[in-house]
Amino acid sequence: MNLFDVYPLNNIEITKALGSKVWDANGQEYLDLYGGHAVISIGHTHPHYVQRLTAQLNKVGFYSNSVLIPLQVQLAEKLGKVSGKTDYQLFLCNSGAEANENALKLASFYNGRKKVIAFKGAFHGRTSLAVSATDNPKIIAPVNETDHIIFLPHNDEAALEAAFSEYGNDIAAVIIEGIQGVGGIKEASISFLQKIRSLCDAYNAVYIADSVQCGYGRTGNFYSHDYAGVDADIYTMAKGMGNGFPVAGISIAPKFKPWHGMLGTTFGGNHLACAAALAVLEVIEQDNLMQNAAEVGDYLISELKKIEAIKEVRGRGLMIGIDLPESLPNVKNDLLFKYKIFTGEAKPNVIRLLPALNLTKTQADQFLNDFKTALKG
Ligand SMILES: Cc1ncc(COP(=O)(O)O)c(C=O)c1O
Repeated sequence: MNLFDVYPLNNIEITKALGSKVWDANGQEYLDLYGGHAVISIGHTHPHYVQRLTAQLNKVGFYSNSVLIPLQVQLAEKLGKVSGKTDYQLFLCNSGAEANENALKLASFYNGRKKVIAFKGAFHGRTSLAVSATDNPKIIAPVNETDHIIFLPHNDEAALEAAFSEYGNDIAAVIIEGIQGVGGIKEASISFLQKIRSLCDAYNAVYIADSVQCGYGRTGNFYSHDYAGVDADIYTMAKGMGNGFPVAGISIAPKFKPWHGMLGTTFGGNHLACAAALAVLEVIEQDNLMQNAAEVGDYLISELKKIEAIKEVRGRGLMIGIDLPESLPNVKNDLLFKYKIFTGEAKPNVIRLLPALNLTKTQADQFLNDFKTALKG
């Protein structure tokens, strides 16, 4: 049996990892500023994480959502505290797409409507409605095509107002990333998020904050949307939540009332997933990782802004986009193969930095030095 070949792969096998370092099968060390796509939040194989997961595995790894799982309650309490949304409710699932799918479904259950506003450049996942709300026709199969989604230009308040005045009472939800990741590290402006909040309030539509990539402390705030000073109705989260263990969730405002069977999943919220998510939050709290993300991120951004060859530096905290001119097409590959540094990318020529939240200033400096050399070709 062969693998279904959907991923373009780098010819590297990672066999060991610790903090922001990984090693390949030949023992070559790499600096990891990609975190396996923003997933590694507290660093690879963090000792507290390994210990908590191992201990849990030795007790009980899984039982379904048909019995009491006190770890879920502990996780909800901790997440409420760390995110500052103590009165929100938690539904646990397994991936970012599933989180967004459930958030959109919940919005539609709530107000009985069908239309969803999404934005140019958005990525919300690959399941049916999440992919329809994703601005990439190539990955939308004919069966996923729907006229329920209205795509609007990003950060365009006039277009948003016009859409609400045309479709207002049909709009179930507005879904937006605090910072577009796949779209190239593009931040939603504070006034745009405030406008979404006020229009959703005026029309009883649901404001969904897709925090799958930009959330979980990465920008220095638990949810990057919260820089706007207004609450979303539903926050979706995944990547950094389990530091590599597949776990996702949606944080739901008190006004949404559940009924049995409304949402559900087999694997969501299992014992091991909760242990992983709790370990992550414990480390974020104990080691002040949100503060570190803000500080090291600010440092990286200000140093990068001094480099003339860069077209634009975007982002916040440890979610950084380095927009390079077309004349420098090989920098990401050179960083990986010559300088042994993993980074991410976005089209057409943006390098994405999504490291663990405990990246050190020394590691940031190592990147900056090698990056400056790489720019010289
Ligand atoms: C903003 C955002 N939402 C949703 C998703 C989908 O998450 P998953 O791949 O876990 O389904 C992603 C994945 O990259 C993402 O960046």
